[in-house]
Amino acid sequence: MLQAERAQGALLPEYHRATPECPHPERWHMVDSMTAEVEVLEFLRTLVTTIKPNLIVETGSFLGVSTVWMAEGLRANGFGRIVSCEFDPLVFSKAEEKIAASGLAEWIDLRNGSSLEIQVPGAIDLLFSDSDLDIREQEVRRFLPQISPTGLILMHDASSHQRKVREAALRLEAEGLISVVLLPTPRGLVIAQKREGRN
Ligand SMILES: C[S@@+](CC[C@H](N)C(=O)[O-])C[C@H]1O[C@@H](n2cnc3c(N)ncnc32)[C@H](O)[C@@H]1O
Repeated sequence: MLQAERAQGALLPEYHRATPECPHPERWHMVDSMTAEVEVLEFLRTLVTTIKPNLIVETGSFLGVSTVWMAEGLRANGFGRIVSCEFDPLVFSKAEEKIAASGLAEWIDLRNGSSLEIQVPGAIDLLFSDSDLDIREQEVRRFLPQISPTGLILMHDASSHQRKVREAALRLEAEGLISVVLLPTPRGLVIAQKREGRN
């Protein structure tokens, strides 16, 4: 949070070290080391305007930056909502402030709770799993039955240097639950679709 406050929105070169799949991370940008890479934020917004989701679920709001970028996509679409959860009360209050100042609050349902406990009724068109590395697999397993057959699952931090998430995604694929594409971004981003119902 301190890094974000000091930067005051200025862009920094991405901090993640090079990986075999992404040898030049310095070509990407970040606002801080917790918030997704700026290029990934742009991708999230474009994905929202591309697939036009009714319901987005985000796990791990942090300061609400990725939440706001996706909400911009919803506003451009003119419909839909994003449910985003943050379990740390102090971080949650910062995200609340950011969202209140963004003018996008009507598109956002921010929850102070755990991704493994919040209840989100309805079919999920886009799941962005970006909380704690150790529970990303649990999150995807938890929300999978609710994900629309045409929906997308994104798992952030799936680079080959952060094997937990990458291996979790490949395990879910090996079990026949999802099909994955591994995007070669600095921190790694999985795009997946569930197999059940796909035709
Ligand atoms: C990588 S940051 C999220 C960054 C944010 N999505 C962005 O790109 O702007 C991860 C956040 O997840 C939160 N978190 C960790 N475990 C969680 C859980 N089980 N439920 C909700 N939030 C959680 C952490 O407190 C932290 O703020």
